Amino acid sequence: MYRTRTCGELRASDVEQTVTLAGWVQKNRRMGGMTFIDIRDRYGITQLVFNQEINAGLCEKANKLGREYVVQVKGTVKERSNKNPHLPTGEIELIVSELNLLNAAATPPFTIEDDTDGGDDLRMKYRYLDLRRHSVRSNLELRHRMTIEIRSFLDKQGFIEVETPVLISSTPEGARDFVVPSRMNPGQFYALPQSPQTFKQLLMVSGFDRYFQIVKCFRDEDLRADRQPEFTQIDCEMSFVEQDDVLSMFEDLSKHLFRTIRGIGIDEAFPRITWQEAMKYYGSDKPDTRFGMKFVELEDILKGAGFALFDHAAYIGGICAEGAAGYTRKQLDALTDFVRRPQIGAQGLVYARVENDGTVKSSVDKFYPQEVLQRMKAAFSARPGDLLLILSGDNVMKTRRQLSELRLEMGNQLGLRDKNTFACLWVTDFPLLEWNEDDQRYYAMHHPFTSPKPEDIHLLDSDPGAVRANAYDMVINGVEVGGGSIRIHDSALQNKMFRLLGFTEEEAQAQFGFLMNAFRYGAPPHGGLAYGLDRWVSLFAGLDSIRDCIAFPKNNSGRDVMIDAPSPIAQAQLDELHLALSVPH
Ligand code: AMO
Repeated sequence: MYRTRTCGELRASDVEQTVTLAGWVQKNRRMGGMTFIDIRDRYGITQLVFNQEINAGLCEKANKLGREYVVQVKGTVKERSNKNPHLPTGEIELIVSELNLLNAAATPPFTIEDDTDGGDDLRMKYRYLDLRRHSVRSNLELRHRMTIEIRSFLDKQGFIEVETPVLISSTPEGARDFVVPSRMNPGQFYALPQSPQTFKQLLMVSGFDRYFQIVKCFRDEDLRADRQPEFTQIDCEMSFVEQDDVLSMFEDLSKHLFRTIRGIGIDEAFPRITWQEAMKYYGSDKPDTRFGMKFVELEDILKGAGFALFDHAAYIGGICAEGAAGYTRKQLDALTDFVRRPQIGAQGLVYARVENDGTVKSSVDKFYPQEVLQRMKAAFSARPGDLLLILSGDNVMKTRRQLSELRLEMGNQLGLRDKNTFACLWVTDFPLLEWNEDDQRYYAMHHPFTSPKPEDIHLLDSDPGAVRANAYDMVINGVEVGGGSIRIHDSALQNKMFRLLGFTEEEAQAQFGFLMNAFRYGAPPHGGLAYGLDRWVSLFAGLDSIRDCIAFPKNNSGRDVMIDAPSPIAQAQLDELHLALSVPH
């Protein structure tokens, strides 16, 4: 037996016991005639003690152990004279009587400690060493516990986990596909699923009624902190449901996770706002509602006073930063620079302070008499000490998005975005279609299988852009943690959608004939949702990037620097796949 106990479990109650431990050398230090070694495994760290006077040979052997050597030790548990309250095993130490070197280790390229000296690239290259660090490993432990809770919850609710194929043809979720050439079908390609969307709908036609799958999805899109090219969905679908049934099921699952994983009980229903409201009040379809600072529209009050920027604007709106009137000129200039950055692209920032006596002092005082500024103050319900920040622009949506960035920045600066506070929200009634100026055509805002709201179906021909969808997202702290919709289950309506999205009859048939065909054989009304597991884990762990809860993630260029993927393949392999490259090989 390699070990009788783990490195994380010995306590004062184990004193005088003889135990065998195995693990990695975290630290090796000599003090006088004593050698102290911290030995580490997944469960914790235990201090080993070797005494030169008692066993010089053993002590010599211990002194030679370098960082990350793998050892096995036998010894007696003793109470420590100077206890370490920061370590769960800090009351004891192991007086070692036998030491076995199981494996030597090269000096690691960075220290395996929570506060490591390793930079990002180095840690990714040696990810297996990075994963030895408690902080990284604990994210994966959290991920494991969450998937167990999710499986158990869905199982109790009658959901059946079904695996769907990974080598499929394109699924239109809005990103580019990763494709895989087929050797046996020259010139043809599989696509990796962006989601199992069509398969889960087929499972409903098959009568599975409640399906789920914790499943890898693949999207070739630009990467951000909350996006990976391969990520994991908790993909679900239900038959004979309306929107409320789906929302209530997944709200319950979310509450179950909050309770079992974070110990947070949530009794009240998650607030729901429509997409229109989300855009109007937060300039975002995934608003962070941990704090208020809702947008106030000011065209009625501020237009037409001779201030050209505002007079020509299609949108003037602002936020009220409570208690921030003390912002210095320097801070306000920095905010102006912030909104003018090319990524945000605002023209400038207008600000107004509410003074202690209630008067308003603004950067555009010469255009607006105090009486107008007071009306503006009233529109914000602002109080003395508040700072009003105003943006304007000639494109309503664009300006709202800029104001949204400013709102989030102010939330950060004023400490309103605490990682241990959670604000959950449903955003509903998304538009069915999105007009793309460049391509001069509509795209499905969610995906082409999403059902329009029945009361809007009559607009499909006359005003497609105004049609609302039976689609919803769950948002927590400004992160879209899930999204779904009630689906179209009628082949005539589905055909109409494909037409609107610019598919010819033949194209629709070629890409989705199997689904349209399936709908002819008795498709039940159905709907569902998919959660982003990586985003959920990151939220619960308080991470800034989903990378940190993925065992072997890709970097920002979509590379796995550890295994060096993607990489060229041999000419023979290319030939076998009937592929010729147009880039130098
Ligand atoms: P959607 O495209 O909204 O819906 O995806 C569902 C959820 O998956 C997560 N997600 C991602 N997480 C990490 N990296 C990515 N690149 C990434 N892309 C998406 C998000 C998102 O909310 N088939 C539909 C679901 C349905 O209609 O039932 C779908 O895939 O948390």
